[in-house]
Amino acid sequence: MTKKLFVKTYGCQMNVYDSARMADVLAAHGYASVETPEEADLVILNTCHIREKAAEKVYSELGRLNRIKQARSSEGRRMMLAVSGCVGQAEGGELLRRAPFVDLVMGPQNYHRLPDLLRRAETRGVVDTEFPVESKFDHLPEARTGTAADNGVSAFLTIQEGCDRFCTFCVVPYTRGAEYSRPVTDVENEARRLIDLGAREITLLGQNVNAYHGAQRGGEFSLADLIRQLAELPGLERLRYTTSHPRDLSADLIAAHGDVAVLMPFLHLPVQSGSDRVLKAMNRQHTADHYRHLIGELRKARPDIALSSDFIVGFPGESKAEFEATLELARDVDYAQAFSFKYSPRPGTPAAEQGDQVPDGIKSERLDALQAVLARSQAAFNATMVGRTLPVLFERPGRHANQLLGRSPYGQWVHADMPGDYRGRIADILITEAHTNSLAGQAAAAANPGLAMAQAAGVAEGPPA
Ligand code: 5AD
Ligand code: SF4
Repeated sequence: MTKKLFVKTYGCQMNVYDSARMADVLAAHGYASVETPEEADLVILNTCHIREKAAEKVYSELGRLNRIKQARSSEGRRMMLAVSGCVGQAEGGELLRRAPFVDLVMGPQNYHRLPDLLRRAETRGVVDTEFPVESKFDHLPEARTGTAADNGVSAFLTIQEGCDRFCTFCVVPYTRGAEYSRPVTDVENEARRLIDLGAREITLLGQNVNAYHGAQRGGEFSLADLIRQLAELPGLERLRYTTSHPRDLSADLIAAHGDVAVLMPFLHLPVQSGSDRVLKAMNRQHTADHYRHLIGELRKARPDIALSSDFIVGFPGESKAEFEATLELARDVDYAQAFSFKYSPRPGTPAAEQGDQVPDGIKSERLDALQAVLARSQAAFNATMVGRTLPVLFERPGRHANQLLGRSPYGQWVHADMPGDYRGRIADILITEAHTNSLAGQAAAAANPGLAMAQAAGVAEGPPA
């Protein structure tokens, strides 16, 4: 009999990937995904621990799910409740103590063992947060789903996991463990499979993805080598990768941005702070000038590259002048988009132990000031798109009939009314409006029907004279 699975995902794209892989593992054991926890025989919360109050949010969600679990149980039906991901890893047994109705707690490296863990959890609460000697990637079934959202057009593929950089604010090295790169053939096979399933765009994922060094025929491939190899796969139209560390941005990767056509002109390269003292205290191992230099090299290789970053404001000891250096860097780089956060002390990380924590009110003021700068850059970047024709890869239906949503090469969402089902296809879109977080446009052919007909008849290469 088919069992029903509901997975709720928090946090980063890697968790989205992990949730898809958990569904694959369980599909092989008779589980089908459903839309609501009320229908489910098994609910998994795939959690995130990166910032503020993550664990508290999980506990309150668990309380809500327990009421559903009790209601089902009074009807004589069992609902298993599992917590996976980084809160599972960080809390471990404490989670079962605080929420004894939970059946299973596991870390991000253990979900290939799900069927076995669930069997054991039938009789008593189980915790598995050991870092296993085997790699989960060697024990997962082939991908059945590669979805970034609910469409298969843009897929995530984890190629590297864990981190050895130990930034002093970050829990990732503790929750995801030591850095590991998947062998090239594994990555390539999974990419082929995702393409067979309908993916046209693949985003290569890793906590520190540009530190990738995957085994390949007795040697090693860098991320740039891997990108060049994957670029040859038939059917793959677009490649992206995230998240990168400035210290691991090699010259060959920068060069790839200049000469690999399927590599999209977009890079998320977190800088965190514009102050050298703060960068040092964060253990980022580079200066603000080095970051600026990298941006210059990237723009030389690919002049239109759109840049994105993460920032932390209010790191322990951050002075007003140090924060202003961050504002200055943000203005100088002129990001196409960026994420910014108030520093949040993570238990067990070095920065959390520092005595000179910045008061929350100051963090909030700094966050507002930085976000104002970043929003202005983003709006200006989007505004430059109006009047341009961009190749848009359509992924899913929009809000009203005929409207589709897709992404530009620079990563912006684009809404357009399309004359047919263009999902999974790239079409030239004339951009007519820019909003804060998206663009709107119309099929370039619709804007110039004479040209479209001539092109369809194969008589015109470019615009009419
Ligand atoms: N506090 C605030 N932001 C954090 N990040 C990571 N750890 C913390 C923390 N303790 C941010 C960083 C990172 C992004 C994924 O989350 O900016 O790049
Ligand atoms: Fe965390 Fe990224 Fe630093 Fe690794 S490089 S410790 S994942 S912020």
